[in-house]
Amino acid sequence: MQPLQTTSLRVRENQLFILDQQALPQEKNWLPANSVEDLVGHIHALRVRGAPLIGLSASLLLALLAGRGVARDELSTALETLRASRPTAVNLMNNLDRMKLALAQADFVHALEAEAGRLIDEDKRLCDDIARAGSALVTPGSRLLTHCNTGGLATAGVGTALGVIARAHQEGKVANVWVDETRPLLQGGRLTAWELGELSVPYQLITDSMAASLMAKGQVDAVWVGADRIAANGDVANKIGTYSLAVLAKFHNIPFYVAAPHTTLDPDCPNGEAIPIEQRDAREVTGVAGSFGAVQWAPDAARVYNPAFDVTPAELITGWVLDTGVVRFPLG
Ligand code: MRU
Repeated sequence: MQPLQTTSLRVRENQLFILDQQALPQEKNWLPANSVEDLVGHIHALRVRGAPLIGLSASLLLALLAGRGVARDELSTALETLRASRPTAVNLMNNLDRMKLALAQADFVHALEAEAGRLIDEDKRLCDDIARAGSALVTPGSRLLTHCNTGGLATAGVGTALGVIARAHQEGKVANVWVDETRPLLQGGRLTAWELGELSVPYQLITDSMAASLMAKGQVDAVWVGADRIAANGDVANKIGTYSLAVLAKFHNIPFYVAAPHTTLDPDCPNGEAIPIEQRDAREVTGVAGSFGAVQWAPDAARVYNPAFDVTPAELITGWVLDTGVVRFPLG
């Protein structure tokens, strides 16, 4: 396969490497992801994360395994194992459906390589189109609030919600970005803060519980978030904490936008209740861990509720900004 480089994926000499998003920003470690077990482990540990990036990494790995002579049956099993690695993100399923069609072709090795390459190129274009459509909604002097990480680290391109913010900044329209730290895994504090710094976008980091008081003080002009899955009625599953922001935004009369590629849409999913939500390890809530070390503050016996995502009902969302433009729900 041809060498390839995005912000957080790399193909060199037919090997896949991922930028470890658990170690950023203190350490920039490229880790090998050369087997299904490797990649599923990276996905579960959120070393590879962001709905679009997970689908792209799984597609690249399948193409590389095919190039190494792995048989069609084994690739088919690998594809299904990868499909189950993150139940909420529908981009993963959409990408793997396309890889499955390529796997059915006579020359499946070349078909898989070509399809994985196309998915990467398409994702870059989708991000650019989302950024263009979204930036048109940002008014000059905006103070924007965002949650989790939806930038170049989470996609092959400029990102989704963060791509909109970066483009609006290039167009001189962003006065400040409020970055939710995003408990429990701190994707905002670690990754979004790092990306905005690299892009020279002015930002201030806040804990998730500070958004309400900022909104009450009139310090937030719009909220921009990404999505793991958008149901046919417009309900959106995204990183835990998104729903509370949407409720707050509604109360304070602040526009709440969701930015995502059309591959995040799931027309077969009627509403948010039908979206599977991954439950995660209690240790993410009883303490915190990263390249900075690990600490536990809760009692060993503490019982924990730790859903990775929540569902924001469509009625709280001002606009769904896709690569195709602003869409209306329910889908026709
Ligand atoms: O668990 P994460 O960090 O992968 O969660 C990421 C999100 O919730 C993003 O908003 C979503 O996947 C879209 S990323 C462009």
